Amino acid sequence: MRWNYEKDIKYDEIDKDSIKDNKYLFKNLVIASFIEITSDVYDMNLSKFYEGDEETVNWLNNTWEKEEIQHGASLKKYINRVWPEFDWDKHYETFRTNYLPFCKVEFLEPTRAKEMIARIVVETGTSTFYKAIAGYAKDINEPVLEDLALKISKDEVYHFEMFEKVFKKYKDEEKLSRTDIIKVLYDRLKEINNEDVKIAFDTVNDDNENYEKFLEDTKKLAKKYYPYKMATKMFMRPLGLNSMIESAIASTISPAFRILGIG
Ligand SMILES: [Fe+2]
Ligand SMILES: [Fe+2]
Repeated sequence: MRWNYEKDIKYDEIDKDSIKDNKYLFKNLVIASFIEITSDVYDMNLSKFYEGDEETVNWLNNTWEKEEIQHGASLKKYINRVWPEFDWDKHYETFRTNYLPFCKVEFLEPTRAKEMIARIVVETGTSTFYKAIAGYAKDINEPVLEDLALKISKDEVYHFEMFEKVFKKYKDEEKLSRTDIIKVLYDRLKEINNEDVKIAFDTVNDDNENYEKFLEDTKKLAKKYYPYKMATKMFMRPLGLNSMIESAIASTISPAFRILGIG
């Protein structure tokens, strides 16, 4: 791991007063921490799915899972420092119980290459989400969170790159056409605000805020902080286009990302 969540983050220097009333940020960080820390289940499912592919399974178990769990642990520690009144463990238990039925091997994509496209979309989502959080933290003057979010974002880009390598390994074997790839990309994009976020939101929503309102707030902030260009470029990578076509298409897809309000 390129950093250590206990040693490398300056939790003692968090300017708590500047953020402790920020309910929106609080909810976002809790949701992210819940989903990250549940990566152990995903790791188990993926290890089964790629059984026999030692290289991939080793990387999943020894690197990917550990890094994702560290993301969750670091966010948890941050949350506990700023909002000590929040019982993270109790709420997480509820989340895990409600979310586990959605984490089954049979919900993975039907083939190894296609599942890697799904992973690529997820890592695109996480790397750009933390990039947006870092930008937001910078604006509200919270350098500890900015540093943490940037560290996580970099890890997610690295995960993206590794999953892309695995995707390439299987893509020819499965004879996936560009149309096949677009179909999986499109299906996954539609699901980007999917059940994990909603279940986590319901778990942490102690003040009965409307979920639609939460998404609206996200859209507003995304307009300012979400790295649309980065998202579009990463998202299209599995298509393996040459760079000229890629930038031409990127300029048409980028506004679509804005409308979806991903972030
Ligand atoms: Fe992560
Ligand atoms: Fe990741």
